[in-house]
Amino acid sequence: MHRIAVVGVGYVGLVTGTCLSELGNRVACIDIDAQKIETLRSGRIPFYEPGLLELVLRNQHSGRLDFHADVASGIEDAECIFIAVGTPMSLDGSCDLGAVRAVARNIAVSLKRDTIIVNKSTVPVETGDLVAAIIREHRKEDVQVWVVSNPEFMREGSAVADFMSPDRIVIGAHDERAVEYMRDLYAPLDAPLIVTDVRTAEMIKYTANAFLAMKISFINEIANVCERVGADVKDVVAGAGSDKRIGTSFFSAGLGFGGSCFPKDVSALVSISARCGAPSQLLPAVLSVNEDQISRAVEKIDVALGGLPGRIVGVLGLAFKPNTDDIRESPSLKLIEGLLAGGASVVAHDPVAVGNARARFGDRVRFVNDCYEAANDVDAVVVATDWNEYKQLDFTILRKLMRGDVVMDARNIYDPESLRVNGLRYLGVGRGVSGYSGNGSASPHEDRDVTGSGTAP
Ligand SMILES: NC(=O)c1ccc[n+]([C@@H]2O[C@H](COP(=O)([O-])OP(=O)(O)OC[C@H]3O[C@@H](n4cnc5c(N)ncnc54)[C@H](O)[C@@H]3O)[C@@H](O)[C@H]2O)c1
Repeated sequence: MHRIAVVGVGYVGLVTGTCLSELGNRVACIDIDAQKIETLRSGRIPFYEPGLLELVLRNQHSGRLDFHADVASGIEDAECIFIAVGTPMSLDGSCDLGAVRAVARNIAVSLKRDTIIVNKSTVPVETGDLVAAIIREHRKEDVQVWVVSNPEFMREGSAVADFMSPDRIVIGAHDERAVEYMRDLYAPLDAPLIVTDVRTAEMIKYTANAFLAMKISFINEIANVCERVGADVKDVVAGAGSDKRIGTSFFSAGLGFGGSCFPKDVSALVSISARCGAPSQLLPAVLSVNEDQISRAVEKIDVALGGLPGRIVGVLGLAFKPNTDDIRESPSLKLIEGLLAGGASVVAHDPVAVGNARARFGDRVRFVNDCYEAANDVDAVVVATDWNEYKQLDFTILRKLMRGDVVMDARNIYDPESLRVNGLRYLGVGRGVSGYSGNGSASPHEDRDVTGSGTAP
C-alpha cells in the first residue's frame, strides 16, 4: 500500500485519487474549494463522470479515500504527492501556472518528510524544474523532494476506464528511486511504461494533444473542400482513414475541437515553440481552422434561414463532447453565442450539462428537459454534441414539431436521405454529395445548397 496525496480534485485529480485508492492505496484528496470538499464528504461528486461516483463511495467507505480542504492536513502521511490542479490559458495564450506555483509553495511549507512530487497537470517544459526550485526555496524542514512528470491522457466521459487501462504510462524522472516508486505504484495496471527525463515527458503530453487537434482541424479543412467540390467527407474519412498509418479516430469533421485541454494545450505549445526560438507554423493554423469552423456553421444556418434575426434555433447538446457535463470551450456554446449575436433565439437541451450552461447563459437561452421540446416551433435544429440519445431521433416527429425545416447535423451522425424523406433540409459538414444530391452524382453546383441557398427537395 502506498500513501498518496492528490492536490486538485477536478476531473483528473478525483479520477486519479479514486482509482489509486481502488488499487489498494491510501489516498488523501485535497482542494482549495471547500465547497467541493464538502460535496465529496457528503457522498456526492461535483461533476458528471460515468462510473466515478460508485468508486468514490466504495473507497470512502473502505477508509482508503478521504478529502481535505487544506494541504497541510492532507499531505501529513503522504510519501508521494500528485499535483492535478488546473493549468488554464493565460491572456497571451501561454499556460497559466499560477495554481501549480501556489500548490508547490503550500506543499513546501508543510513538508515533514522526503517526498516524491508528481506533476499530473499538463504543464510546459521546465515546470518540473520550477516546482523543484519553489519547494527548495520555501521548505521549512531539511527534506528532499524528487519531482516526477506523469502526464495524464484520460478522456472525460471514459476517464475511469482510461485510467485503469491506459495505452501507456509516461514517467519523466531524474532519479532511479522515483522511477521505481512510480513503477510499483502503477504495477497493478499492467500497462506499458515509457520512462524518460522530465522535460521529455512534459513534451510528450503537448505533442499528443497537439497532434490530435491537428487531425481534427485537418479533416475539417478537407470537409470544407468536400463541400465545394461535391464530395462526402464521411466517405473520404472511411477511405483515407482505413490506411493504418492514418486511422479514423479523431478524424471526423464537425464543429471542431473544444474542452479544457486541446485549445489551451495547442495554444501553450505555440507559446513554448516561440519562446524557445522554434516558432510553430502548423499550430497557429490548427487553431484558426478550429475557430473558423464555428463561424462557418453559424453562417450556414444564417443562409439556410434567410437571416437569423427573429428566428428560433433548437440546439441539441451543450457539453464539449458526449458523456460529460464539461462545457469548457465547448463548440456548442460558441455556436450559440454566434446565433444569439446574429439575432436568433435559442432553445437548448443536453442530457447532463444544462446546469453548467445555465450558469453561463442565464436567461439568454431557454433550456428544456426533453430533446423534442427543443424542436418545438423552431425554425432550425442543430445537433451540436453527438450524444447517443440524439442518434435515433424520430424525424417524423421533428418535422411535425418544427415550424421550419432546417436540420444542421453538425456532427455528421445522420443519413441525409432519412431527413430528406421526412421533408427536412439537411445541412451536414463536408457532405457535398450525399447531403444534397441524394443520387450519388457530384457537381460543384450542388455545393451551393450546402450553404443553404438551395431549396429542399
Ligand atoms: N480534464 C481532462 O480531461 C484532462 C485530461 C488530461 C490532462 N488534464 C490536465 O489536468 C489538469 C487538471 O485538469 P482538470 O480538468 O482536472 O481541472 P479542473 O479545473 O477540473 O480541476 C482543477 C482543481 O484544482 C483545484 N485547485 C486550483 N488551485 C488550487 C490550489 N491552489 N490548491 C488546491 N486545489 C486547487 C480547483 O479548485 C479544481 O477543483 C490540467 O492541467 C489539465 O490540462 C485534464
